[in-house]
Amino acid sequence: MLWIVAYLVLIIFFLGFVWRIWGYIKTPAPLKIPTTPAPTTKRGVAWRLFTEVAFFHSLFKGNKWTWLGGILFHGSLALVLLRHARYFCDPLPPYFHYINIFGVIAGIVMVGALGFLLLRRYWVERTRLISAFSDYGILFLLIGIGVTGLLMKFVIRPDIIEVKVLMNQWVTLQGVGNPMPSDILFLVHFVLVLALLLIFPFSKLMHMGGIFFSPTRNQADNPREVRHIAPWAAKAEAAEKK
Ligand code: HEM
Repeated sequence: MLWIVAYLVLIIFFLGFVWRIWGYIKTPAPLKIPTTPAPTTKRGVAWRLFTEVAFFHSLFKGNKWTWLGGILFHGSLALVLLRHARYFCDPLPPYFHYINIFGVIAGIVMVGALGFLLLRRYWVERTRLISAFSDYGILFLLIGIGVTGLLMKFVIRPDIIEVKVLMNQWVTLQGVGNPMPSDILFLVHFVLVLALLLIFPFSKLMHMGGIFFSPTRNQADNPREVRHIAPWAAKAEAAEKK
């Protein structure tokens, strides 16, 4: 039963993600609204998006503490996920072994940064005012995943060989009919991850893909050089000319 649910979750995650991205692609951006000062060329826009995604550039300008919490969380999450390759890849590419130790430290940093972001959301009044239940829910979910992961690492060790076999079979689509994982802590960790994947396409976690479609970030500041015509307006203009 667990594995059937796990496959359903994977399907919902992938289809939901693609569906949301399709929605972003199809959403018209009729106005020229780059947040200025903005680059004037396409190459400049690519660089701007890169610095946003890699260094959270505009957040850095906006609030140093939130930036610190955000960059520590996302950076350590990336390392944690790279370390998790060992549960899915067999054999593991050799250079991944070097990530291992950083991955463990990153796990601790990740949970610390999440705790900080949670406290900030509650303590900073203007942030609390605009926070919805889902904002807290996502933070608690991530903390739950991190804490169960750390407990497995430092307190109650799971059977890693079993985890590896189950995960390998799951991702190679041979998981249906497999037994439940025998470690309760791992089971909780895994079910929380499934919950995260399930809500991903329907939550603000989609900022991961949405950032690339944000007109305030992905437009060049060139309205004096190039006339900006929204696709629907161009179509209407062409029809009128006919
Ligand atoms: C299906 C996906 C996942 C599986 C099979 C999995 C499995 C595991 C296992 C077995 C451990 C214990 C490590 C050890 O004993 O050496 C662990 C640790 C951990 N997991 Fe996961 N995990 C998954 C997804 C995630 C996700 C998505 C996150 C973050 C959002 C996460 C965060 C952590 C953290 C922070 C640790 C502790 C540090 C570490 O050992 O890397 N896990 N995970």
